[in-house]
Amino acid sequence: MGKNEQLLHDEAPAFSSASRVKYYNIVIESGKGAIVTDADGNDYIDLLASASATNTGHAHPHVVKAIQDQAAKLIQYTPAYFANATAAKLAPRLAALAPISGPVALSWGNSGSDANDAIIKFARAYTGRQYIVSFTGAYHGSTYGSISASAVSLNMRRKIGQCCLAWLKCHFLTLGSACLTKVKTILWTGCLRPSSCRLKPTCPLKKWQLF
Ligand SMILES: Cc1ncc(COP(=O)(O)O)c(C=O)c1O
Repeated sequence: MGKNEQLLHDEAPAFSSASRVKYYNIVIESGKGAIVTDADGNDYIDLLASASATNTGHAHPHVVKAIQDQAAKLIQYTPAYFANATAAKLAPRLAALAPISGPVALSWGNSGSDANDAIIKFARAYTGRQYIVSFTGAYHGSTYGSISASAVSLNMRRKIGQCCLAWLKCHFLTLGSACLTKVKTILWTGCLRPSSCRLKPTCPLKKWQLF
């Protein structure tokens, strides 16, 4: 048995199968630039970049040094209670980079899923509206908000029942005026059952998926 296989075998009883979209039976051991190396020593060109989380390239010296310096000074302090010096300095720099005109305010998060949850909450709070449209086939993350936006049949989604209410799933190619017309039809003709995410049996828009 190779090292990849051995590690996966040892991990299996302790790791939830719902927590991974498994493409290949490899175990990433290290990374340098665009190359990742598995436990058996095989190199791969990493076109996924850890779902865009490592777009600087793996083990970029500037990133490694910044992490090491920060870890030696202060590993973490939650911004929910106190500002911490590094985050306080970074916030205006990030805000200035945002391709948005007018005032920009940011919120720290832990992950892509958390970022999607945040934007759902902010959009609902800001607009006072409840319904959100997302595309079928899209994956947005594993938190309740993000998995509600996702319209994929993954182990992550199965068996967990209803997610956030007020979600409309739209095929990517129907976005535009056709999509908007359908959204309006659903909302204004009472297609939606008030107490659930399902369409009423009488609704003509059967191809819409509401979870
Ligand atoms: C397209 C996309 N959106 C969102 C996420 C969620 O990000 P995270 O795993 O950091 O919560 C992922 C993660 O793989 C992703 O691929």
